[in-house]
Parts: sequence; structure tokens; C-alpha cells
Amino acid sequence: MRTIAVFSTKGGVGKTTTAVNLAWHAAQTGPTLLWDLDPQGATTYLLRVRPRLKGGADRLVRGRTDVQRAIRQTDEPGLDVLPADDSYRDLELELDQAKKSGHRIRRVLCDLDDGHAWTVLDAPPGASLVARNVIDAADVIVVPLVPAALSLRAFDQVLDLVAEHAPGTPVVGFFSMADRRRRAQAQAIAELPAADARILPIVVPSASAVEQMGLRRRPLPAFAPRSPAAVATARLWDHVRALAEPAR
Ligand SMILES: Nc1ncnc2c1ncn2[C@@H]1O[C@H](COP(=O)(O)OP(=O)(O)OP(=O)(O)O)[C@@H](O)[C@H]1O
Ligand SMILES: [Mg+2]
Repeated sequence: MRTIAVFSTKGGVGKTTTAVNLAWHAAQTGPTLLWDLDPQGATTYLLRVRPRLKGGADRLVRGRTDVQRAIRQTDEPGLDVLPADDSYRDLELELDQAKKSGHRIRRVLCDLDDGHAWTVLDAPPGASLVARNVIDAADVIVVPLVPAALSLRAFDQVLDLVAEHAPGTPVVGFFSMADRRRRAQAQAIAELPAADARILPIVVPSASAVEQMGLRRRPLPAFAPRSPAAVATARLWDHVRALAEPAR
């Protein structure tokens, strides 16, 4: 199983959108588990799964829940969800009291080993213990960047966290919710990939097709595969897949 984490210290930058769409691509190549780690449960909602985790997040990350039984199938072939509910709100405190608190998510995934080829982690924003767990569990970390100077700061924060907790894990940034008509954004899109090769020149535009995901409750490539946002996401998937798969 290979694990892709979609992560940023910043909120509202397109993590959940990206996680759902990358997971859809992953599912085209093999059974995929999308783990919703955010108490808001946006991933769970987008894939039409009931926001209910029996026993709660604490028992799950402590290895006291049968994860197999918590996993739900979605309507998308090959794509399963480990849903979030409100219990994730207390996870931070509970992890703080647990042993090996930085490695809990990885432990759960190692123990699971149930034939999923891919796991995609949809992380909440922040630099908390949950974030550390996500970084620790990932084979590759994908960071959506809204093109602006502040995004670069968020990218640097992610790089610092990775250097501290999972040195060597590849990190890639790409542009999310981009509007090239805005001069500062166009400039960031032109300059940042040249300054740091880890920022890919891939631009997912701010688009109503992406907003439609919330109404249709389906991954974007499942209903608008030719939209510019879906085409950019498919390119992102190609990069992420190459980084996540072990060298042959
Ligand atoms: N490319 C896009 N074009 C238009 N709207 C977008 C795009 N990407 C995301 N959105 C919208 O922006 C909002 C935030 O996106 P999303 O939930 O993916 O961000 P997030 O980083 O997961 O947020 P949070 O930090 O709260 O978990 C959502 O309403 C989503 O539909
Ligand atoms: Mg989210």
C-alpha cells in the first residue's frame, strides 16, 4: 500500500478537493482508501458516506477498532472511505496522551494491509500532532498552494515539518484555486516553480466545475473529465503517482 497525504498548514486551500480527486485517479489503478481525518467530514460528505465512525477516532488510532468494519464503499468503483465524524475534534488531545503519538496513523495503516493499493489522507489544516501523524504515514505529501506570497510561507512550513518528522519524504506543491487574471497570482504562478522545483507548474483554476463537486457529491474527473481543472488534476496525479511508487 502506498500512502499519499494531501496537507497544508493553511486552511481552505483545496486539500479536500484534491484528496477526493487524486483518490479517484488512484482508484482507476487499484483499490483505494480515502481516510477523512477532518472532523468537518467534507470528504465523507462529498462521497455520500454517512459521517459515523463507530467507537470514535481515538479508539481507531489506538488500534482498538476493527478498521475493516469502519471502512465504507463509495459509489465510485474501487474507492472506499474511512469516514470522519465529530469524534475527530478530540483526537489532538487524545493523541497527546497516547504512546508513540506521532506514529499512530502509520501503525493503523500497517496493521490494515487489506489489499488497498493506495491510501489517500485528507488532513485538517495546522501543524498539530494529527499533522505530524499524517506526515509520518505518507510516502508523498501533496500541498495545494493558492498562488500568493503567503502560500509560499505555508509551503515552507510544510517543508520544515517534513524535515523534522519525515526527512526524505517527497513533497510537491501545485497551484490550487488559481485566478491568472489577478496580477499577483499570475506572477506567483510564473515565478514559484522556477524558484523551487518541488512546486510543480500545474495550475488548477478556480472554476465552477470544482464547486459543482459539492452539489453533485462526486469527484470532478467522474463528471467533468475534460474541464481544465480536471485536466490539471490528472497531470498532478501522474506526478504524484511517479513519486509514490517505489522505483522498479
Ligand atoms: N479549484 C477550485 N475552484 C473553485 N472552488 C474551489 C476550488 N478548489 C476548492 N474550491 C472550493 O473551496 C472550498 C474549500 O476547498 P476545500 O474544502 O477543498 O479546502 P480545504 O483545504 O480542504 O479546506 P479545510 O482547510 O477547511 O479542510 C470548497 O468550497 C471548495 O468547493
Ligand atoms: Mg478539508
